[in-house]
Amino acid sequence: MSDVGNGGAVFDALGGSMRDFRYLPGANMLDRVDAFYQWQETRRAAGVWPLGRSTEHGAFSRAVARTDQGELFQGVNFASQDYLSLNSHPAILETAIQTMRDYGVHSAGSPALVGNTSLSIALEKKIAAFLGYDNAVIFPTGWAAGFGVIKGLVRPSDHIVMDALSHACLQEGAQAATRNIHLFRHNLVDTAREKLAKIRATDTENGILLVTESLFSMDSDTPDIPALQELAHEYNATLVVDVAHDLGNLGPTGRGIIEIQNMLGKVDVVMGSFSKTFASNGGFVAARGRAVKEYMRYYSSPNTFSNAMSPASAAIVGKAFDIIASPEGAVLRDELMGNIKMLRSLLNGCGLEVYGDPSAIVCVKMGSEALARLTGRRLPSLGMLANLVEFPAVPKGQARFRLQVMAKHSQHDIVDAVHRLSTAIAEANEDVAALENGTATLATIDADRPLPATAPVTEAVPGAPAQANDRRRSLAA
Ligand SMILES: Cc1ncc(COP(=O)(O)O)c(C=O)c1O
Repeated sequence: MSDVGNGGAVFDALGGSMRDFRYLPGANMLDRVDAFYQWQETRRAAGVWPLGRSTEHGAFSRAVARTDQGELFQGVNFASQDYLSLNSHPAILETAIQTMRDYGVHSAGSPALVGNTSLSIALEKKIAAFLGYDNAVIFPTGWAAGFGVIKGLVRPSDHIVMDALSHACLQEGAQAATRNIHLFRHNLVDTAREKLAKIRATDTENGILLVTESLFSMDSDTPDIPALQELAHEYNATLVVDVAHDLGNLGPTGRGIIEIQNMLGKVDVVMGSFSKTFASNGGFVAARGRAVKEYMRYYSSPNTFSNAMSPASAAIVGKAFDIIASPEGAVLRDELMGNIKMLRSLLNGCGLEVYGDPSAIVCVKMGSEALARLTGRRLPSLGMLANLVEFPAVPKGQARFRLQVMAKHSQHDIVDAVHRLSTAIAEANEDVAALENGTATLATIDADRPLPATAPVTEAVPGAPAQANDRRRSLAA
């Protein structure tokens, strides 16, 4: 299973993790990154490098994809984040095309200068009103919004009290802002309280930012936001909640977990992304009072020193908000939730465990990285796209497949996905057993049971643009 690479490092296709290559030894920065590449290559050679893929003609519920080695495969797509299927919504497509005709394609400047358009200004107002605030500011990506809200507000002498599982954009924003970072145990309000009390026992001069997410994307679970907000008030801290995964697709009117927990307009600062539900790149920060918005504009570097969102993206997100707030939005959310429940229940029926509460993220428990990688190896030829998540994104030994559900997945797609994933897991369990008892190696593992050729997806994907369907058929031919 192992190869010995440059400098004696051991490269193991079923072992090791990204973390091993984060801090590489050696004075030459360009030479030392080779160790990571060697590990990737070992995994590629064994067929267990599932990252860096692309779709051939768009991220729809069935898709043709290409590995980073250039191999084509196709199948049901549970690896793209387009929760309400707005990527193929006719009004969204029409808005994008018309906006490009009217405005050109480029924002051509930072929001601090002249990069905003009438569309992005209108979108800021729309977001603020939707969430019950009077002000919002748009960032080029959700990552930039998460990083930027923290880096913009926090001084080096301030403190950050953050859920230990917070997204990388929040963690990296915190690291860039201060050394005073205190992680509290995931979703445990009492451990957040302990951290706040300890800080305030000795420091009443500096600010504290309390940071969490409304829906955690590896566990599909949710904190008690009213309790965290009360805690923030009690200790003169400021609460920021990242609503990237639930805004638009959960809650009676699409306002997400904050709506479900009756906290609309009551959280100090809300930050989010458009990349999951709003069919676009981009992110935002919403808060009360123009002062916060103005401060973000000039002191949050990803807003100040980066180009504003393109006019087409601003128009797409604006149209997405209109759909989400309309009766059609409610229907799409119902369809999505129906799909989520069906997927979770069929997975359970096959004896597979899923994490957390029903949301568009359905994470399927795998456990060992070896089993997860060998399962992932079988998915392309079985006709399925799903993302493998492993350490350090989740704890060691808790690898999982993250399935992301769309409103326009058909029941057929869901049944196919469950069948294909459970088949891959059953076969991978046999692979693991053969490797463990020495009857096979990674090089010989397919001798008795070759991976099948990938089945072409010939039927039209409902809702996908006609040209995309035509291109897929011609590829399958
Ligand atoms: C919780 C959370 N916040 C922020 C982001 C970043 O969003 P974007 O993709 O818009 O940069 C993500 C995306 O992975 C996320 O999961």
